[in-house]
Amino acid sequence: MARETAPGGTAGTRTGATDEAADLLRVENLSVEFPAPSGGWQTTVQDVSFSLRPGESMALVGESGSGKTVTSIAVMGLTGATGGRIASGRIAFDGVDLTAGSQKQWRDLRGPGMGMIFQQPIRSLNPAYTVGDQIAESVRKHLGMNRRQARARAVEMLEMVQIPRAAQRVDEYPHAFSGGMCQRVMIAMVMACNPRLLIADEPTTALDVTVQERILELLRDLQEQTGVALLFVSHDLAVVAELCQEVVVMYAGEVAENAPSEKIFFNPRHPYTSGLLGSIPKPGLSTDRRLRTIPGGIPSPGAWPHGCRFSSRCEYAEPGRCDVAHPGLVRVDGAAGHHARCVRAAELSLDGVTV
Ligand SMILES: Nc1ncnc2c1ncn2[C@@H]1O[C@H](COP(=O)(O)OP(=O)(O)OP(=O)(O)O)[C@@H](O)[C@H]1O
Ligand SMILES: [Mg+2]
Repeated sequence: MARETAPGGTAGTRTGATDEAADLLRVENLSVEFPAPSGGWQTTVQDVSFSLRPGESMALVGESGSGKTVTSIAVMGLTGATGGRIASGRIAFDGVDLTAGSQKQWRDLRGPGMGMIFQQPIRSLNPAYTVGDQIAESVRKHLGMNRRQARARAVEMLEMVQIPRAAQRVDEYPHAFSGGMCQRVMIAMVMACNPRLLIADEPTTALDVTVQERILELLRDLQEQTGVALLFVSHDLAVVAELCQEVVVMYAGEVAENAPSEKIFFNPRHPYTSGLLGSIPKPGLSTDRRLRTIPGGIPSPGAWPHGCRFSSRCEYAEPGRCDVAHPGLVRVDGAAGHHARCVRAAELSLDGVTV
């Protein structure tokens, strides 16, 4: 059984991830810091790596506080705007290392290169402007369209995200739209610039289940129509199963496991992933969506333990083994693109999803 550290010590979801030219987005050993309450800087995301090809969909999954949004914001080049800094690592888009370049390079990519739907979309819409004006402003700025073209594009995009009577509703204000509709407007606004990468940070969390389903369907359709790559952020593995080919599970600021979706679901190799899967009601993957079954809570950035960060909650933890040294991310089963950060990964038989 092959066990080895992931290439270059990174967590690339494909083993032998040297085919850099094929990647649209490549995040390598990313660490992000914020000012610590007691002075200095505190690491909140550590040594995170993954890569995404054009048109591919990948999920970042983990409980609240695991570092999903901090990672996404770093990819967008907005860490500084949130008070943090990229302490180390590399973020490359289309082969260009953005972390080595200027802020302008990143700014020029936001819109036509990459777009993000933020975690609280309703707050991202400006109540003082019509939804049409807000979409139009985005395409005028990024695509250089004139006023008439931009308005036509706004209507076209509202139709694309299936807002009924788009030609009329384009002149309405956000308060006239339901939560699910506001989410569609946000997706329209981001997709209007034809980005090659769409980051969707918990895009369905605040919505009821049937609306969630429709938004997921919409994202799937948009991917098919436009070929946009999707980085889908969620705490909910059931949602991810329907949408993503690859999964990166995060825990306490780092990658706990990564693999193609079916391996994550049917053959998880980290007890945390197995715990997350256990919280999905059976049979199947589609009813209640909250994480409930793992006892205890995620340690906060200032309180990461010395050994495995999950060990205090892990039913398989062995004292003297799991709590002494920080485990590396290792390839499991010799499987291409499957890595777990658990010293017992090769010897445990963990439950996946049963259908
Ligand atoms: N601007 C900030 N300043 C200081 N700490 C921050 C900041 N933003 C995030 N953090 C910290 O970084 C850690 C990761 O936060 P992040 O928002 O990425 O979590 P998340 O996985 O997106 O969680 P959720 O599911 O709740 O959205 C948390 O401990 C959080 O408190
Ligand atoms: Mg978040």
